Amino acid sequence: MRAVVSAAPAYAALARRELDAVLPTGSDLAELCPGVWLLSAPGRFADRSEEMGRTVFVRHCCPVSGEVAIQDSPETFVDDLLPVAHRCLRGVASGIQVQVRLLADAPAWAPGPLATRIRAALAPAGVVAVGGPAEHVLSVVVGAAGGFVGASPVQDNLSPWPGGEARLRREPEEISRSARKLEEALLLFGVAPVPGGRAVDLGASPGGYTALLLKRGMQVVAVDTGDLSPRLAGAPGLTFLRGPAHGVPLPEGLFDLITADLSWDPLRAAECAIRFRPLLAPGADGIFTIKFFGGDPLGIVARVRRRLEDGYHVLAVRHLFHDRDEATAHLRA
Ligand SMILES: C[S@@+](CC[C@H](N)C(=O)[O-])C[C@H]1O[C@@H](n2cnc3c(N)ncnc32)[C@H](O)[C@@H]1O
Repeated sequence: MRAVVSAAPAYAALARRELDAVLPTGSDLAELCPGVWLLSAPGRFADRSEEMGRTVFVRHCCPVSGEVAIQDSPETFVDDLLPVAHRCLRGVASGIQVQVRLLADAPAWAPGPLATRIRAALAPAGVVAVGGPAEHVLSVVVGAAGGFVGASPVQDNLSPWPGGEARLRREPEEISRSARKLEEALLLFGVAPVPGGRAVDLGASPGGYTALLLKRGMQVVAVDTGDLSPRLAGAPGLTFLRGPAHGVPLPEGLFDLITADLSWDPLRAAECAIRFRPLLAPGADGIFTIKFFGGDPLGIVARVRRRLEDGYHVLAVRHLFHDRDEATAHLRA
């Protein structure tokens, strides 16, 4: 099998280390551009994708079943791509999203119009492709050498966004960029805030996460040593506990979600999440940020994961598109 595999350029070396550890003997990774490789490996794409899903820094992978040479224009490219796309989609005629990604050395084409053109070209053969998220993805990755084309169920791509680049819309009322980090984590891990449910947000200031959870109809207990944005003053459903997450008196009642984005030693932050664990309803989800603070990311993730496992199932740890020098863990109580 062949696949295009992606990581953040800044963490490409770590992703490469993880790939070397999880992929079977006989696998080969050829760099297409920083943080993007063409993988050739034995076996099935779905099996290799499952292995790559256990890494932290691999953000996305998509199968390559055919290649299309770059001609002079997007029009001729789509004409040449059409038979390859139909071959990849064998038997799948609906619930398809066309994802186009242009690598740094690709022709100066725009991905949106190219995806629209591909969808229109598929339609006469009865293939209904949509602009938004769908069960299956037709992936088209274009670089200087040509286009790599393949189709897969979206969960095998490790991320529903091309290359794992979750370019989420910035809301005009956004209090901090962290809100998009939480939004990405909720979408990636399939966690849906329950309207009317209760969330506890550790390290809440200035309030990006808290504002998002309130907007989704949750009641939020926000904990921080610093202040929340004045824009949250008097917000219905909000309780603010000023103080350290390791010391504030624990609030009453049960919670359906815990978020923790503490800028603190990640092992101490994990202890805070463990401290709040008895307040979580069975099956409650957690979104926990692991800050690296210049340390060895893989070593830190391993140590923090072990500590979190004292109270939680750690379902995944992934380096999100909105993560900087940190990774995000999906916890289940
Ligand atoms: C990156 S900011 C959080 C941003 C927030 N998630 C948002 O959406 O706006 C980290 C926060 O952790 C808080 N913090 C660090 N250590 C803490 C502790 N031990 N207890 C409570 N808050 C702490 C800091 O005061 C800071 O406000």
